[in-house]
Amino acid sequence: MFETVQAAPVDPILGLTDAYKADPDPNKINLGVGVYQDANGVTPVLPSVVEATRRVVAAEKTKSYLPIPGSPQYGAAVQRLMLGAEHEVIASGRGSTSHTPGGTGALRVVGDFLKQNLPAAKLWLTDPTWANHPAIFAAAGVATDSVPYFDSATNGLAFDALLAKLRTLPAGDAVLLHGCCHNPSGIDPTVEQWQQIAQTLAERGVLPVLDFAYQGFGIGLEEDAQGLREFCQTGAELIICSSFSKNFGLYRERVGAVTFIAADADRRDVVQSQVNRVIRTLYSNPPAHGAALVQTILDDDALATQWQAELAEMRTRINGMRTLLVKKLAEHGVPGDYSFIEKQLGMFSFSGLTKQQVERLKQEHSIYMVGSGRINVAGVSAANVDRLCAAIAAVCG
Ligand code: LMR
Repeated sequence: MFETVQAAPVDPILGLTDAYKADPDPNKINLGVGVYQDANGVTPVLPSVVEATRRVVAAEKTKSYLPIPGSPQYGAAVQRLMLGAEHEVIASGRGSTSHTPGGTGALRVVGDFLKQNLPAAKLWLTDPTWANHPAIFAAAGVATDSVPYFDSATNGLAFDALLAKLRTLPAGDAVLLHGCCHNPSGIDPTVEQWQQIAQTLAERGVLPVLDFAYQGFGIGLEEDAQGLREFCQTGAELIICSSFSKNFGLYRERVGAVTFIAADADRRDVVQSQVNRVIRTLYSNPPAHGAALVQTILDDDALATQWQAELAEMRTRINGMRTLLVKKLAEHGVPGDYSFIEKQLGMFSFSGLTKQQVERLKQEHSIYMVGSGRINVAGVSAANVDRLCAAIAAVCG
């Protein structure tokens, strides 16, 4: 039966973890998958999560199903974190949040929703974008295309080209933007640029879809939500896909959310009925545990304050590694100006290394990074930075 099945290609990001684990080199370095590592290379369970786990397990009375969109308290906590407690969207009740298995689950719900309810909509992706975006929407049968985003000449945002392209998009299409900490480039628009993007999409009748997976990893929880909030003007419609893998360190718990913001509360109910239909056929209803942890932390002032400090510590360590990396690349004589690495936001740096150089780093030095040259800066430490920069110097020479 299976003799006609062809082997699928290895996943460009998660496949690297398997290759890294199989490498016997004791000095191997993993800069691949976007997972936080501390100075010792450990991906810790945050102490706030340990405490929330204790409370959730102690209080749990049943393992019966959650509603299709998950716990309403979780949805409310997610909206407050993204939008701020006083936001008009919350006061008017025109947003509805469903708990999804990770940000990937949220994106796939959006894919199926678009295909079933707005079948003529093409989805525009940034060039570049997260390697899994095109595959998720292809699996849902949604047509995609790309808008310019990264300018390799300046290692910055190709803002004029992006805006010019957005101004040509037909009404009824949708654009998937990264709410903060663009993956893979680490380049975000300024607040003024976000305003212009949001205004352009509103004028053209193009639906914004925001992938919001790194809140708190850029500048801070509030600052990182500023761009996204520009799209939430009174009456505006949009979709937000959230992930709490990174900022709560809950990767394997698969905690995410999809928020549909409709023009008013009546439209919201109609839209949510279709979202529920999509979820029912994809995974029926969500797994409870991880979302209960997030909700427990966000609903408790002391625990939320503790979590914010833990998140700030992760962010500060990554930024420190950016500075160290720039210094060490220069010390090891790597040609070129790498100061842009310090300006990038979030977990990733788009290093500018070519596919061939990335391959040599893997084959000759047991250093693993995504083929696009994306580095997970959280994988850099004081202990491995010299070996890393010497290897980069060797493949760039
Ligand atoms: C990444 O980009 O490395 C992360 O979002 C993890 C993943 O699933 O690809």
